[in-house]
Amino acid sequence: MKLIQAVIAILAGYTILSYGIPYLGSMLHHGTWPVVPVSLMKIYMFFVVMGVLAAMTFDEETKEGLMAPIRSVYGKPSMGPVRLAVILLVAVAGAGITYQSIKPSFEAPVELRSIHPAPPSTINVFKKSFNLLTLTNPYREDKEHFAENVKQGGVVYFKNCFYCHGDKLDGKGHYYNGFFPLPANFQDVGTIAQLQESFLFWRISTGGPGLPKEGAPWLSAMPIWQHFLSEEEVWKVILFLYDYTGRSPRTFE
Ligand code: HEC
Repeated sequence: MKLIQAVIAILAGYTILSYGIPYLGSMLHHGTWPVVPVSLMKIYMFFVVMGVLAAMTFDEETKEGLMAPIRSVYGKPSMGPVRLAVILLVAVAGAGITYQSIKPSFEAPVELRSIHPAPPSTINVFKKSFNLLTLTNPYREDKEHFAENVKQGGVVYFKNCFYCHGDKLDGKGHYYNGFFPLPANFQDVGTIAQLQESFLFWRISTGGPGLPKEGAPWLSAMPIWQHFLSEEEVWKVILFLYDYTGRSPRTFE
């Protein structure tokens, strides 16, 4: 039957393209399996389908052979159940393809997220310009009021941050499960212990949206705290983060 021939020819074209091309590639470069990009595959398949249709409608006789089964399924009253089945099949296939394409994916993006991307050298926050290369925490040297400032930073933390970063600063706040990337775990040696206070000042003031491109192929839920806190509160919460975890900030030396 012509219709079956056409379907087989198209499937054969698909198989040759999707396995043949990578196979050729693997012969040229051993150990690789270069897949054909989806967009290119669509173009190739367009030509395969058009080619098959052109060949099969070349003369009246083959064209009739191709069209007859379609016409009988859709036109003959006695084909009612078959017609219903075909329509259902098309609808289910359409639903399946739509579902596959809108289903959220939890795969890591192809780009790697750089967790501590290089900060800009200057930032504009709190309506001022700060040079991150020389910026230090103004409260760090104030030994006299140190305990008091840490305490105030703790208040800022438990009013604003612990929902995500956790009451033990371990990144396991109430909402931590809902975010990807996960809220930073400040107890981990890989976070604040590696960073300068100016880096934290930048990250806290500008949040996820302030990350440069290499830091944010994934959406970060970290809010832009300059919209909610004062400059003073940001410095004090930084003091608190280091004091509570017992870590010391990285310094310029
Ligand atoms: C809505 C949840 C949420 C809240 C509330 C929140 N954060 Fe975050 N924070 C995140 C997430 C998610 C990340 C990790 C992604 C990123 O680096 O932006 C993060 C990252 C950070 C980092 C970067 C750490 C590193 O190692 O680079 C710092 C510093 C930070 N948060 C401090 C704070 C402070 C201080 C507060 C409170 C004023 C706060 N966060 C409130 C979600 C939150």
